[in-house]
Amino acid sequence: MEALSESAILGGLKTRLMGQPALYYPSVSSTMDVARKAAQEGASEGTLVIADEQAAGRGRQGRAWLSPPGSLSLSLVLRPQIAHLPYLIMVASVAAVRAISRTTGLSARIKWPNDVLIGGKKVSGILIESHLRGGGVDFAILGIGINVNLDPSLFPPLAYPATSLSTELGHPVSRLEILWRLLEEIERLYLGLREGQSPYQEWRQRLETLGRRVRVEVGETIEEGLAEEVGQDGSLLLRRTDDTLARLVAGQTMPNLSEEAA
Ligand code: BTN
Repeated sequence: MEALSESAILGGLKTRLMGQPALYYPSVSSTMDVARKAAQEGASEGTLVIADEQAAGRGRQGRAWLSPPGSLSLSLVLRPQIAHLPYLIMVASVAAVRAISRTTGLSARIKWPNDVLIGGKKVSGILIESHLRGGGVDFAILGIGINVNLDPSLFPPLAYPATSLSTELGHPVSRLEILWRLLEEIERLYLGLREGQSPYQEWRQRLETLGRRVRVEVGETIEEGLAEEVGQDGSLLLRRTDDTLARLVAGQTMPNLSEEAA
């Protein structure tokens, strides 16, 4: 397996923001924590924190995220406008799908809000932690984990079916190639956002969720129903079996909406 290092990463990087600088660690607790500390100490937008292994990788809704060697685990320091925060899940998930497709030819889909699946199995997860200050965004940490070269069947049963790029292809995949393409696509979408281009349409088209019956974990409860539509703000409009509508905001639910209000 090719080794990650700062010089190897910078050697093939074609971006001017994302991955500049690149901070590589063989092992960390979570790249989210290292990136947050760097951001608090003034790290510039685009700073990349990447590790070969995470001892305490975390996922959405307080879940653990397994990051054995062979996986790609990274966090980026961003300093977006507050109005752009809802678009970060779209930027990250669309970028992951594009990077996977450009590097491997595999076609991935997005499960609302931002799980990346191949053949219905999870290959990548995204976690965004925003730090607000004085009515604005101090910084946001965008974390992405991609199962690149690992065999999910060797790990304890997960809460969801999982796959990896090497499992899908039957041969190892370059983590550096995936990383370079991922950072390029994040940069393209993120800079586009600043120029007023929304990733919403592409994200919506790449969702496998719309028109399907879904179960969504919302804090302690589970919402079930037909995924009718997604909003520009990233929310999911779910028609429950009793015909009421719920607007789910990336894992949180807003107070009940009447049909008229929706
Ligand atoms: C999820 O699907 O629940 C989100 C998983 C996010 C995992 C990535 S790996 C890099 C970064 N560091 C972490 O501890 N988590 C994110």
